[in-house]
Amino acid sequence: MSDWNTDELITADKRFAWHPFTNMREWCAPEHEPLVLVEGKGALLRDSKGREYIDGNSSIWTNIHGHNHPHINAAIREQLDRIAHTSFLGFTNPPAIKLARAIIDLFPEGTLSRVLYSDDGSTGIEAALRITDQYWRIQSSRRQEFIAFQNGYHGDTAGAASLGGAAMFQVGHSRWKFPATLIPDLKALERISAMEVAKIAAVVIEPLIQGAAGMKLWPSGTLRAVREWCDRSGALLIVDEVMTGFGRTGRMFASEHEEVLPDIMVLGKGLTGGYLPLAITLVTEQIFSRFDGSVSEGKALAYGHSYTGNALGCAAALASLDVFKSENVLEHLGPKIHQMNAELEPIKNLPAVREVRQCGLIAGIELSAPDKDSSKLALDVCMAARSHGLLTRPIRDVIVLMPPLCITSQQLTAAIEAIQSSIVDVCGGQNP
Ligand SMILES: Cc1ncc(COP(=O)(O)O)c(C=O)c1O
Repeated sequence: MSDWNTDELITADKRFAWHPFTNMREWCAPEHEPLVLVEGKGALLRDSKGREYIDGNSSIWTNIHGHNHPHINAAIREQLDRIAHTSFLGFTNPPAIKLARAIIDLFPEGTLSRVLYSDDGSTGIEAALRITDQYWRIQSSRRQEFIAFQNGYHGDTAGAASLGGAAMFQVGHSRWKFPATLIPDLKALERISAMEVAKIAAVVIEPLIQGAAGMKLWPSGTLRAVREWCDRSGALLIVDEVMTGFGRTGRMFASEHEEVLPDIMVLGKGLTGGYLPLAITLVTEQIFSRFDGSVSEGKALAYGHSYTGNALGCAAALASLDVFKSENVLEHLGPKIHQMNAELEPIKNLPAVREVRQCGLIAGIELSAPDKDSSKLALDVCMAARSHGLLTRPIRDVIVLMPPLCITSQQLTAAIEAIQSSIVDVCGGQNP
């Protein structure tokens, strides 16, 4: 049934690997048996012992069209047979050129029009901050401060972490902190004094929904209001679509729901369909035009990584865009989103469930039980879900359901039933 020596693999993992955001003492404890994932097909994953699961959080919010998609596989193989990687510093390559064009074509002409490649969501955000900082410095402007929102999350590199509210992801009270002020909401934005406004370089926001905050939904119209505030104040708007991009919210980009075009947009995670690490920082021609000049004038962008414009990643991303078209992915999303909404309804009535939030094909189920540690409950529920054939991971007290967009109707029902049964297993109550 399975050729894997699971015990050997786990022993080696516990001896040599370091897993992020993980209590390594618990992970390495003899009684902990990590799942070793070895295969996938569509929305399903298989472990080294041959057990099958629904990928309930799209492999940490990355997978879009499913695992082992024939078209994306073929595109990567075709590119691999030519070459895997060459430098984008001083050279260029066909997939990176084609992808830049294809991404720009997703936006109205004359808006977002330049693509900067990096490696993941964090570096995409880092690049956005560095572009903004240099953009204002080139103009000898005093705008050096960033505004971000409390509980937001934009990644772990030092600049990105400075924008994040979640304590776990912060670099601590360190000297690394970038000049960022975290505000709770729109009202706080409106209250910033004129003197302070003149120093603001950019506002950074996750559109529609704050992911790592626990799938918290912004009141409708927030993004649009932030856009209008930026227009009035002259600050740039940086929209972080790392989680929401590529169909998650029901549209290609969450910003479309409020007809907002930012000055800078960051894409990551689903960009390659969840296959390879790649990010894009998109900017307007207006921003790009300020960098028109020589290195000695300080006009060359002072940011870039070795794997920038990686050909395999770009080939995967191009193939993922093809799949959006060939499989009418966005058109098929509406019914799935409705189904998720309807089938989550009974979960709201479970005694341990405080709130169920949904945005497109993303759901957060917040638990709360008197005298119990809700985060521990959520973790236990996610562990219990494994025995019901679902893999997911909580954010503190919130269980996340965010399957690949290709999930079938049957699988979606199974995933929601798995969560429901697991909550009942762990917290009591009855299956409605
Ligand atoms: C909204 C948002 N921005 C940025 C990031 C960072 O992306 P990465 O983990 O690929 O660095 C994440 C990751 O969860 C995210 O949700």
